[in-house]
Amino acid sequence: MSQREAVGAEELIFYVNGRKIIEKNADPEQMLLFYLRKRLRLTGTKYGCGGGGCGACTVMISTYEPTSKKIRHYSANACLLPICSLYGMAVTTVEGLGSTKTGIHPVQERLAKCHGSQCGFCTPGMVMSIYTLLRNHPEPTSEQMTAALAGNLCRCTGYRPILDACKTFCKNKENGRCCMDQQEDLFDKEEKVSVRLFSLDEFQPLDPTQELIFPPELMRMAENQSKRTLVFHGERMMWISPISLDELQDLKAAHPKAPLVVGNTVVGPDMKFRGVFHPVVIAPARIPDLNVVECKSDGLTVGAACSLSLVKDVLGNAVSELPEEKTKIFYAVLQQLRTLGGEQIRNIASLGGNIVSRKSTSDLNPILAAGNCMLNLASRGGKRWIPLSDIFADGVGNNAIMPEEILVSVHIPHSRKGEYVSAFRQAPRRENALPIISAGMRVLFEEGTDKIKDLSIFYGGAASTTICAKQTCRTLIGRYWNEQMLDEASRLILNEITLPESVWDGKVKYKKTLIVSFFYRFFLEVLQSLKTMDPCHYPGIPVEYESVLEDFRTKMPQSIQIYEDVALSQSPQDPVGRPIMHQSGIKHATGEAVYIDDIPSVDGELFLAVVTSSRAHAKIVTVETSEALKEPGVFDIITANDVPAMNEFHYSDDPEIIFARDKVICVGQIVCAVAADSYAHAKQAAAKVKIEYEVLEPVILTVEDAIKHNSFFEPKRKLEQGNVDKAFDTVDHTLEGEIHIGGQEHFYMETQSVLVIPKGEDKEMDVFVSTQHPAFIQEMVAASLGVPANRIMCHVKRVGGAFGGKLLKAGLLASVASVAANKTSRAVRLILSRGDDMLITGGRHPFIGKYKVGFMNDGRIQAVDAKYYVNGGCTPDESVLVAEVSLLKMDNAYKIPNLRCWAYACKTNLPSNTAFRGFGFPQSGLVTETWITEVAEQTGLSPEKVREINMYKEDEQTHFKQKLDPQNLMRCWNECMEKSAYHNRRTAIEEFNKQNYWKKKGIAIVPMKFPFGLGSRYLSQAAALVHIYTDGSVLLTHGGIELGQGIHTKMIQVASRELNIPMSYIHFCETSTTTVPNACASVGSAGTDVNGMAVKDACQTLLKRLQPIINKNPKGNWNDWIKEAFEQSVSLSATGYFRGYDANMDWEKGEGRPFTYFLYGTACSEVEINCLTGDHKNLRTDIVMDIGCSINPAVDIGQIEGAFVQGIGLYTMEELKYSPEGVLHTRGPDQYKIPAVCDIPEQFNVSLLSSSQNLYAIYSSKGLGEAGLFLGCSVFFALRDAITSVRNERGLKKTFTLNSPLTAEQIRAACMDDFTKMITNDEYASSTLWARVHET
Ligand SMILES: Cc1cc2nc3c(=O)[nH]c(=O)nc-3n(C[C@H](O)[C@H](O)[C@H](O)COP(=O)(O)OP(=O)(O)OC[C@H]3O[C@@H](n4cnc5c(N)ncnc54)[C@H](O)[C@@H]3O)c2cc1C
Ligand code: FES
Ligand code: FES
Repeated sequence: MSQREAVGAEELIFYVNGRKIIEKNADPEQMLLFYLRKRLRLTGTKYGCGGGGCGACTVMISTYEPTSKKIRHYSANACLLPICSLYGMAVTTVEGLGSTKTGIHPVQERLAKCHGSQCGFCTPGMVMSIYTLLRNHPEPTSEQMTAALAGNLCRCTGYRPILDACKTFCKNKENGRCCMDQQEDLFDKEEKVSVRLFSLDEFQPLDPTQELIFPPELMRMAENQSKRTLVFHGERMMWISPISLDELQDLKAAHPKAPLVVGNTVVGPDMKFRGVFHPVVIAPARIPDLNVVECKSDGLTVGAACSLSLVKDVLGNAVSELPEEKTKIFYAVLQQLRTLGGEQIRNIASLGGNIVSRKSTSDLNPILAAGNCMLNLASRGGKRWIPLSDIFADGVGNNAIMPEEILVSVHIPHSRKGEYVSAFRQAPRRENALPIISAGMRVLFEEGTDKIKDLSIFYGGAASTTICAKQTCRTLIGRYWNEQMLDEASRLILNEITLPESVWDGKVKYKKTLIVSFFYRFFLEVLQSLKTMDPCHYPGIPVEYESVLEDFRTKMPQSIQIYEDVALSQSPQDPVGRPIMHQSGIKHATGEAVYIDDIPSVDGELFLAVVTSSRAHAKIVTVETSEALKEPGVFDIITANDVPAMNEFHYSDDPEIIFARDKVICVGQIVCAVAADSYAHAKQAAAKVKIEYEVLEPVILTVEDAIKHNSFFEPKRKLEQGNVDKAFDTVDHTLEGEIHIGGQEHFYMETQSVLVIPKGEDKEMDVFVSTQHPAFIQEMVAASLGVPANRIMCHVKRVGGAFGGKLLKAGLLASVASVAANKTSRAVRLILSRGDDMLITGGRHPFIGKYKVGFMNDGRIQAVDAKYYVNGGCTPDESVLVAEVSLLKMDNAYKIPNLRCWAYACKTNLPSNTAFRGFGFPQSGLVTETWITEVAEQTGLSPEKVREINMYKEDEQTHFKQKLDPQNLMRCWNECMEKSAYHNRRTAIEEFNKQNYWKKKGIAIVPMKFPFGLGSRYLSQAAALVHIYTDGSVLLTHGGIELGQGIHTKMIQVASRELNIPMSYIHFCETSTTTVPNACASVGSAGTDVNGMAVKDACQTLLKRLQPIINKNPKGNWNDWIKEAFEQSVSLSATGYFRGYDANMDWEKGEGRPFTYFLYGTACSEVEINCLTGDHKNLRTDIVMDIGCSINPAVDIGQIEGAFVQGIGLYTMEELKYSPEGVLHTRGPDQYKIPAVCDIPEQFNVSLLSSSQNLYAIYSSKGLGEAGLFLGCSVFFALRDAITSVRNERGLKKTFTLNSPLTAEQIRAACMDDFTKMITNDEYASSTLWARVHET
């Protein structure tokens, strides 16, 4: 059929939140996410990555199937759903559930009231995942709940409070009780403390009858209308959706190159991120032949367009109904489906798409191929069946499927008697992560024996597509299933499966190890199964090997949060010290909370896309823009020449640069920006800008390169106390070492965003920006435009996560947008894509710590000489400060009498690194804890003993002579020891480790001293402005920014206490440079401390003015007094001010008082590792933190947990990968893994130390936003403990180095065995360390 004949409905009809949408110009390139946000103005659904990896855009899709008359609801990623695929469907977004206007849904209510939102950017996505599950299962199991959230990332909360909200909907099916009741029973016994952060009684019940119904019109449409081909024409692309296989075959013959798009999870990301373009796509999802599910006598036939979720359900049913012997292949496929993608991906991704796209990372192809599955192919040339394995016969160039052929269905056979089948995978994260290696294996024995009759071994991840160990399998036929066969098989496999040394992620040795380790695991599984079949003949495997046959599974975590209750005497109205819900919590959950890109567009607004450098160090020869300017919708291109005043900012010797002018100094540096009428047009045109470079030498990427070229930002810093050299002469032992700590991407869920609106007169501009420091943005924008600061009005309502990343970098981006707005006289919106954000904005500094430590036999450390190198990237930003802080905090909790340490900020050609929660301490603290652990290993003492011996104990001085009282350090330590039952658990772990060979547990307890302070007084000044209106309502503002840390909630609590009025009287609108000038950045955990003082001051001023009126009418109420005050002409507006904390540091003398006070804490973590794969599971963490008197325990515990989980990410998962040319590969959640629900400890307890006072901060609280992050290293050391136990058992070298992040790859490498030795004889160090950039 020709395209002309294939005319159909040019109108796209679907429903959104019960409203009919008729789209006359449906563009196949338009994804639902942008349609919702830009066209329908439903901005609750968020953009976090655009590639299906974060879940921020989750919506519910409902479809009606007229034959079965069933309505199906499923969650999906709106960023991957072409609107054209939605014909006849109903979409529900977060706005469709409820709002503050119409009433909120129980899911929204509970998520907010359980404190499940911080910055709130991930919250609508979370709500939709939970809601969809509840639509299908009103009382889900906890397993269903954790599975439903596997595809949703949150960077703030650490997931615990989100899961608490989920638990309120779950029935624990084992005992029929709600998980929450059990928790309350357990922990309500301590006196004076509370374990309740919310009250179950407050929640409205879930009433499934109240949900939005499926639109009857869509039902009628599905039932009555004869189906017809649909064709949609976009600007560049045509979408054809046929209804019969016949028609599809014609279309495919006519357009052999057109992809068949079902879930769009391969085609979509290829088009978005890899520059692939398809002028025609064919959508076969409505064709019945491609949706069959048939149970046949010899197996199951499943249509190629069936979603992976459907395949999972069908296989699950078959496994529960058929005899085990027949379902081994089904079971193995199910095993892979459990962790493949998140639920949103499985709900739309098709079986056919997974198979035909033949990705190396397919989890399904290896097992389907090994399981002898058959493909049913159709084309105009006829139908045929081929074994699935044929499509991998000779690599990617394989043409077993012709371009015009369509995969109609897949036949998955029953397994046979004597057949054993398994599938394996290891991924950077257990769930929602593509595998590093996946495998499918099958063996068939000659009847009644263990003699191999047939063997199939397939791997994914090893080459550019799935590969088969064909030769190996052939050679092993006739062998018996024993150790000899294993040995031969391992060698054969390694010989046959050759990995190119140049795989981009550099994990060559690890992949090889996994390839043989998986075969070994298969070997063990089969031995064990043989034993079950015939125990007399087959002894099975040793008991201590058995546990390795079980994979780690995600369980619903259990948790306790303990905090000190407010005194009984405290007024019930006084909110200070109570677990008050985040001020924006409900709005986060309804999607009403407004972030920058949610601000409605302004007339004539332009979108900006940046063009960045592709070279690390080069002269710009030409920038060719003529092609780009011809692209549709392009308005202008902005370069350095358009900056009216300052393009380079000299805060130190080297400048911060807005646009590169003559040369580029890193990959990702902004060279120019395209302004166009839509983001898509701007992006398309940006790709057409051509830059010619002349490469410059040297290209410095690593710390080692920087040392070699003496490339540093000045000044270098040094601290010294005692006599280090002399001490080294007198100690019993010395050790030396070096540890590398990789960088970390902030991965705030809201990418860098700015909207600049020129006001049209006096050069005034409104700058709406996602930043931690509006005053700085104002200063930079004003300087770049050459206008006084009083013309630039910066506004920040809230920020969708920042973690230090939205300071200077936000200033540069705001300047880019402002220069564009100035040049074009239009409003300009710049929202970085996730990829650009990760590429351009830098992150935590990669770090190398070198140390020499002198210690006594009894574990006393007498001398330390250390050098720290931070990789600052190409501009100074705050790198020198980060290096300084790493020095000041390097002692962590220990008194080292003789200490010398140096810090260097390296200048390299990487994107400039910047502030990140913890600011140098997470790195230098890890180095310290590493040498502490090594001292323990060398003295034979336990690490906790060495920690105890060297800890600060009484009033002492730090290495820069600041006094500290470490009483609460010891209290946290002792309490954590006790609460975690450390000693008993250590004994239990030793016992476990004796009984398990391939699985080991480890435990570690790590203390922390976290100094609070910003280094100088002016950096901690703060101001507030409080207005009281004549109706008694109060408008509060201050200089702090809401980043998710709940600062506005706390400030309202402060104002409520000070003015003695309910919180409901007080409103916070926005932080703005127009109301509070020159405010300091919201950084360094200081927001509440300093702004709280200013708010208190303003409120006290007002109260003082009101006091005479109150005294005169003590029985009156607030409104009476305000009215009276107005009538008496008493000013009802006041500013409050806090001058900041006195602080100083003399680097010449190496002494000072840079910090105001100290926080303390201790974390104890337990882990279990799988020595064969390097996988691990976080079993339990107990944290005890001294944060003074908490102003809001729910918010504060949330900060501790969120930071801790971010620390787990830093120390064990998050790996940045660069090419040798300095190109960042890891540019999205698909390549860069932050912790997800599956990564948090199964038991996660946090206690706030009681009776702790702090003279320096408001209401005796302590600033705690950053501190918890470092405690994530307790997991790192627990892993080290488990590895030590492996190595001790195997008699391996005692001293070994573990770098950060301690990924599965490193764990596997450290657990040396015969398999690792087959790969290399050396103790292979990870080749993926950040600094050691690998070949591409
Ligand atoms: C965030 C994310 C996470 C993921 N995680 C995993 C994972 O952990 N493991 C894993 O294995 N995969 C994973 N995937 C990949 C995904 O599961 C598969 O890509 C998916 O099954 C492809 O199906 P689709 O319908 O979306 O394909 P589409 O993108 O619609 O199509 C893919 C290709 O297949 C072809 N095709 C589709 N159907 C047919 C047919 N019937 N006949 C002929 N050709 C056809 C198309 O022409 C196209 O070239 C992930 C994907 C994403 C986006
Ligand atoms: S924005 Fe869709 S999954 Fe991230
Ligand atoms: S609250 Fe989840 S990302 Fe901020």
